[in-house]
Amino acid sequence: MDKKILIAYFSRADYNYVHDRLVNLAVGNTEVAARMIADLTGGQLFKIEPLIKYSADYTTCTEEAKQELRAKVRPPLSDYLPGITEFDIIILGFPNYWGTMPMPVWTFLEQFDFSGKTILPLCTHEGSAMGNSEKDLKSLCPGADVRKGLAIRGSDVQESKSKIETWLKAQGL
Ligand SMILES: Cc1cc2nc3c(=O)[nH]c(=O)nc-3n(C[C@H](O)[C@H](O)[C@H](O)COP(=O)(O)O)c2cc1C
Repeated sequence: MDKKILIAYFSRADYNYVHDRLVNLAVGNTEVAARMIADLTGGQLFKIEPLIKYSADYTTCTEEAKQELRAKVRPPLSDYLPGITEFDIIILGFPNYWGTMPMPVWTFLEQFDFSGKTILPLCTHEGSAMGNSEKDLKSLCPGADVRKGLAIRGSDVQESKSKIETWLKAQGL
C-alpha cells in the first residue's frame, strides 16, 4: 500500500529579503517549495496559519517573532487539521525564524502524537540553514522518525526543484 503523505507548512508572503533586497513576495519561499513537493509526491498540502498574521513589514515581523519565541507563545491557528492518523509521512516545511521553527509550527506540532510517523523537515533560510530546528522538532515529536532535513536558501527556492527531488528520492519518495 502506498504511504500517505502530508505536506504541512508555514510560510509568510509580504516583505522579505531576496538576495539582500527587500521584496514584496506574493507567495512565501516555503510555500513555493511546498507546492513543488506536492507536484513531486502527490502529498496533501496543509498550510499552518496563525489566526493573527505577522506584519507585512519585515522589521516589524522579525520583532513580533522574536517576542513570541522569547515568551514561548503558542499562537492560535486560523485552521486546524482534524488529525494525522491517516498519514504515514509528514513533510514539514518552515522558514528559519531566529534559529528555529516559527511558533505557529510549535502550536501545530503540539496537537498531535507523532509516534510511529516519519517526519521530513524542510527549512528555508537566509544563512543559518536548519539552525536548532531539527533538535526542537525531535523533542516536540517524541517517538517520530525525524529524518535529516533539507535546508534551502529562500532566495534560491525557485531554482531548487531538482535539489528537493534528490532529497525526496534519498528518503525513498
Ligand atoms: C521573523 C523572521 C526571522 C528570521 N530569522 C532568520 C534566521 O534566524 N536565520 C536565517 O537564516 N534566516 C532568517 N530569516 C529569513 C527566513 O528564514 C527566509 O527568508 C525564509 O525563506 C522565509 O520563508 P517564507 O517566505 O516561507 O516565510 C528570518 C525571517 C523572518 C521574517
